[in-house]
Amino acid sequence: MIVITGATGSIGRAADAHRAVIDLAARAGVAQVVAVSVRGATPGAKLGGGMHGEVDAHLRKSGVPWSILQPTRFMQNLPRDVQDGRFYGSYGPKEVNYIDARDIAEVAAALLTGPVGPGGDHVLTGPESLSHDRIAGEIGAALGRTVRYVDLPVPEMTAHLERQGVPQPHAGDLAALMAETGDGRWATTTTAVEDLTGRPPRPLSAFLADHKDAFPEALKAI
Ligand SMILES: NC(=O)c1ccc[n+]([C@@H]2O[C@H](COP(=O)([O-])OP(=O)(O)OC[C@H]3O[C@@H](n4cnc5c(N)ncnc54)[C@H](OP(=O)(O)O)[C@@H]3O)[C@@H](O)[C@H]2O)c1
Repeated sequence: MIVITGATGSIGRAADAHRAVIDLAARAGVAQVVAVSVRGATPGAKLGGGMHGEVDAHLRKSGVPWSILQPTRFMQNLPRDVQDGRFYGSYGPKEVNYIDARDIAEVAAALLTGPVGPGGDHVLTGPESLSHDRIAGEIGAALGRTVRYVDLPVPEMTAHLERQGVPQPHAGDLAALMAETGDGRWATTTTAVEDLTGRPPRPLSAFLADHKDAFPEALKAI
């Protein structure tokens, strides 16, 4: 069984819902649970990291054979992050890792279709960690347009997110999380995708080549 849902809405209610599903799986004698979590998940962490931290802890002691996938940010977020040729964030100049969600799916498929192993946590990363200046440059090159990364202090990024309709406290937590992940903690890469699927994770260039059409019309019209 795979457990993957959104981490939006009430974090407490989401954790309860995940725990209930895991308890049902234990009672039903499910052969294994593969859960999609997030890198750095720990109880009390901001946004989804805290919810996943609680759920991961529950799964580890559930008695069901388990694997926990802890991916970095999804490349699939990028189309919605870029508006009008600008990519706003609070990551600063350091490198951050992004992974193509298709690689996470392939890891899950490999674990779910292979023999049930001893379980464990798998930190899943893309093959390279890049600064947001570089990411914006690669997006621009793929689209044939200028895309610029605009780094904002956390309070200004919070206000930017609020203007886009992100409610508090999520807007503030999201901006603060950007600053946290931009401190280098998400810069290292792992070999987990290749170890588990037999092939290396997709680079940003492959994601962009396959997803040019996912970027908003506003960007293409510049
Ligand atoms: N995005 C990232 O960068 C990132 C990075 C690391 C980890 N993660 C984790 O990966 C997971 C997916 O993230 P995401 O960004 O793809 O989330 P998302 O865009 O919010 O998508 C979540 C998906 O889960 C479905 N869903 C939500 N609640 C559900 C429920 N109770 N039962 C069945 N389906 C439900 C949603 O269906 P509807 O569309 O029908 O609502 C949607 O298809 C989350 O747990 C997140 O914490 C995300």
